[in-house]
Amino acid sequence: MIPKSWKALQPIVKAGSRSLTTSDLHRQLKKPILVTQSSTLQKKINYYAIEPKNEPTIGTLMKESRSRDKNKLVRSCQFMHREFLVRISKVIIHLQNLPYLLLTNEDIKRVLDLYMYAFTDMLHQPKIQNIGDVDKFNETLSGLLDDLQDILLILSRGIHDSQPHFKSEDFNGTVQKIMDYITINRLCNRILARHHLSTHITREGYISVVNTELSLKKIINKNAAFAANVCQNVYMDTLPEVLIDGHADTRVAFIPNIIDYILREILKNSFRATVEANLHKVDKPPIICTICNTPDFWTIRVSDRGTGMTEEVLKQVENYCYTSFKQEQQYSHAFGDLVSVAGQDQGSSLAGFGVGIPVSKAYVKFVGGKLEFQTMPGIGTDVYIKIPQLSMMLDNVRI
Ligand SMILES: Nc1ncnc2c1ncn2[C@@H]1O[C@H](COP(=O)(O)OP(=O)(O)OP(=O)(O)O)[C@@H](O)[C@H]1O
Ligand SMILES: [Mg+2]
Repeated sequence: MIPKSWKALQPIVKAGSRSLTTSDLHRQLKKPILVTQSSTLQKKINYYAIEPKNEPTIGTLMKESRSRDKNKLVRSCQFMHREFLVRISKVIIHLQNLPYLLLTNEDIKRVLDLYMYAFTDMLHQPKIQNIGDVDKFNETLSGLLDDLQDILLILSRGIHDSQPHFKSEDFNGTVQKIMDYITINRLCNRILARHHLSTHITREGYISVVNTELSLKKIINKNAAFAANVCQNVYMDTLPEVLIDGHADTRVAFIPNIIDYILREILKNSFRATVEANLHKVDKPPIICTICNTPDFWTIRVSDRGTGMTEEVLKQVENYCYTSFKQEQQYSHAFGDLVSVAGQDQGSSLAGFGVGIPVSKAYVKFVGGKLEFQTMPGIGTDVYIKIPQLSMMLDNVRI
């Protein structure tokens, strides 16, 4: 919803440089691009942006979710209210300080606007005083998360389109910084919100946002099925099998959404590389996921016998917006729209955004783990996802 105060600003609606066609983007596009900004609003943003964030550890969230205190829901809303104002204002300031040329891009302006709207929604949220105010706040919070769902993709496209105007070293540094910042800010906000929204619900196997018995085999199989489906839609070819070996029955305590995202992206890349290296061959070499569980870390190695990566690709693989997926590929087959940037969200498209690896890398780093590649061009790629056990994250990972 667009707050009343914004209407007075007489927004100028600008058509985007290219059409945005996912259903989520449609919803976001209903909101006009606001070119004018109110100085009162900017003052509020500046005020909150210099406030310190509260960054509870995972351990604190888990302890808190066990508490039976009746007032905890109201307190949690109050905490989230202030926290979101502070966190969103910091992103706005980061975006406003981007080089001017980047800010002239319609997609980047759109991202800035989405954050402005989110900030205003929170600012106009009535004070939360008792249990009767909780539902209204939760509704605003959920709406805000929906609105900010696709910002990384919109930003990535805007950055990609702006690239020709910049020298590559300056550009890469600026882009990596802002994308990493927004990636982790977005992840933490979503974790906090999920923690808050589940305050009054008991979910089996969960303490706060942590699944204490996460089966790695199950989560690999789920994402392999998903990646296979997406790949099949693009290439209409036979697909490699996904095999799981090593400590295959490992269960870990972890935030499932993080490893879910990473596995989906790594497996999509492996499917694509395997199929591209073996086009029209009936038997494709399998993708092998090897699990290793130790007292300190658990590791998943995703090993494909696909195209492998040249030195040139390997150098850029962690850069936001780098993709070897060509625009023409997206339209060159009957089901081209299934991989088009404009037609799908990143999860359900095979490739082309250039965010799968850099976002995975940022997530893994955030929890104190490592994402590493061993690759041989023409032979294949091994990706190592190494994550610390929960006991090592409890006091170290701040959300
Ligand atoms: N297993 C792999 N085998 C060969 N090349 C790979 C592999 N994984 C990644 N790459 C290369 O790294 C590039 C970047 O990967 P990344 O997942 O970040 O982006 P993408 O797959 O192109 O797009 P998307 O963000 O939609 O996933 C790929 O385009 C591809 O060239
Ligand atoms: Mg990818």
